[in-house]
Amino acid sequence: MHTNPHIQEQLEAWVQENKGHAVLGTTAQYIPALGKEDPSQLGICMVDDEGNYYCAGDTDKEFTLQSISKALTFIALSCHYGLEFVLERVDVEPTGEAFNSIIPFEIHRPNKPFNPFINAGAITISALLPGQTSQKKYEYLLHFLEELVGHPLELDKEVYDSEWQSSHRNRALAYYLKEAKFLDLEVEEALDIYIRQCAIKVSTKDLALIGLIIAYDGYNPITKVKHFSEEIAQVAKVLMVTCGMYNSSGNFAAHVGIPAKSGVSGGIMAAVPPKLHSQTYEFRAGAGIGVYGPAIDVQGNSAAGTMMLRQISKEWDLSIF
Ligand code: DON
Repeated sequence: MHTNPHIQEQLEAWVQENKGHAVLGTTAQYIPALGKEDPSQLGICMVDDEGNYYCAGDTDKEFTLQSISKALTFIALSCHYGLEFVLERVDVEPTGEAFNSIIPFEIHRPNKPFNPFINAGAITISALLPGQTSQKKYEYLLHFLEELVGHPLELDKEVYDSEWQSSHRNRALAYYLKEAKFLDLEVEEALDIYIRQCAIKVSTKDLALIGLIIAYDGYNPITKVKHFSEEIAQVAKVLMVTCGMYNSSGNFAAHVGIPAKSGVSGGIMAAVPPKLHSQTYEFRAGAGIGVYGPAIDVQGNSAAGTMMLRQISKEWDLSIF
């Protein structure tokens, strides 16, 4: 391992430069436990293919996965049942609407939810996780994630309770899904697994490592373990580019150009695939990125985190496009 002091210094400088952009957002008020976070925090961790970690800013803090879990449930479920099974039950089409909107569903009456990253699709596929009960389904996902990050993970009970008590919109969405026969589980069970997966605690370091594994098509170049197939990783990356940042995925693709998934806790997981013809030497062999910045914009993405990724991608030529 040979860490590069220049990379470390750069990241520290960029965290300071971008911290101020937090004023463009606010913490997620609709989930009270997230709403009370300090909005000025900003942290980033990057990991390269040799296992060198570069972390700057507020990276000691753990936070909940929220919607980042949707990408991970999609991968775990595809590993268990195969991609074909999952894609028969959820599409891969962006909606251009908010993540928790009922509009696409109500207007188009699709024969399956538009994609697994909007809440309708995510609740549908979480309910399909292996196991008879929401507890068993949760354990399955947790175990899958623990294998990826290499250490035990926990639920943030306060965030879980807070969302459970305030999830009126998701409950309404789940009733729509039930009526459309997309849900075999009872509404309360489906909501329970969905809200639990959202409340799993991670660090920016964990997100960086999972991002690296996705960038490497399911292979961990540090431990040399293959976790999932290229085929699954490819569709996960397509979803991250087209739907990962919700209704600002187009803007994110244009200005950052890295497959990524955000959550309303302010986390972003990004997968930088190897780019041997890159203009710069930093992270030519790919990287994983974990960001934490709890002030989110109206689309639900970390405001300062997005601006920081924009700068990093431009300076180090990380866009895949
Ligand atoms: O369902 C919700 O509203 C949250 N548990 C997750 C939403 C989310 O993270 C959307 N993200 N950007």
